[in-house]
Amino acid sequence: MAHVVAISNQKGGVAKTTTCISLGACLTERGHKTLLIDLDPQANLSLSLGHFDDAPGETITDALETTLNPRKVDWDNLVRPTSMPHLDVIPSDARLWSVERLISEKTGYEFGLSQLIGRWMDNYDYILFDCSPSLGPLIVMALTASNRVIIPIQTEFLAAVGLVRLIETVDAIREHTNANLEFNLLAVMYDQRNGICREVLNKLQENFSARLFSTVIGVDTRLKECVATGQPINQYDPKTRATQQYGMLAAELDQMVIGEQEGK
Ligand SMILES: Nc1ncnc2c1ncn2[C@@H]1O[C@H](COP(=O)(O)OP(=O)(O)O)[C@@H](O)[C@H]1O
Ligand SMILES: [Mg+2]
Repeated sequence: MAHVVAISNQKGGVAKTTTCISLGACLTERGHKTLLIDLDPQANLSLSLGHFDDAPGETITDALETTLNPRKVDWDNLVRPTSMPHLDVIPSDARLWSVERLISEKTGYEFGLSQLIGRWMDNYDYILFDCSPSLGPLIVMALTASNRVIIPIQTEFLAAVGLVRLIETVDAIREHTNANLEFNLLAVMYDQRNGICREVLNKLQENFSARLFSTVIGVDTRLKECVATGQPINQYDPKTRATQQYGMLAAELDQMVIGEQEGK
């Protein structure tokens, strides 16, 4: 049964997509079959893995549309391969904006994505959602379908602004649709030579100790480069710092999940 993780923050440019691909690829390297689902109409995750908006084939938009109007979907071809064996992706496209609006008018829409991923839960060890930078119906569906949400936080001044609203959203989801939702914070784009970065990291450790991953992701320009090649960072540059750090994050997440499953 897959462990389902949403990568979310209502800020743009905070490494949600980068974390989704890099963590997913490192989990795969640890022997886990992993499915990435692009839930952002901007489709950056799909593009970064070489799946372009105008390519033929169905996307997550078509899959979600079936919750409105039952019709046939080519489920097997919805899931696309990536450059890494055992790392698959369901791409997104710009039509997701309008489908999101239509879906939210339906009673019980919150559970649409949970029902949809049911068909893949036994085929994968991890399912990761790359969420869009908004707190709309898509994030409600994603958090309802997830075991945990990982919130990447940039280690810079004002980075935590808006975090309160996201945590309130998590609390609301726990109350209404998913009582077991866990959340963790991940410090990203950390530059240890920068005093503000160090100060922000200290504050995060003080305020969120148990929820903050001990792995910290530093600044690494190789992450920007790998996007153009369609390869995850661990394939593009196995020795770079970000590969090691996302590898450590995958190990830390694995330990957490094993601990939780044993505790049940
Ligand atoms: N640790 C990092 N070091 C340097 N650049 C990074 C790092 N993480 C992400 N980036 C870059 O920052 C930009 C925004 O990241 P992205 O993952 O697209 O954010 P989001 O999905 O939250 O909008 C991208 O150009 C990405 O390559
Ligand atoms: Mg993104």
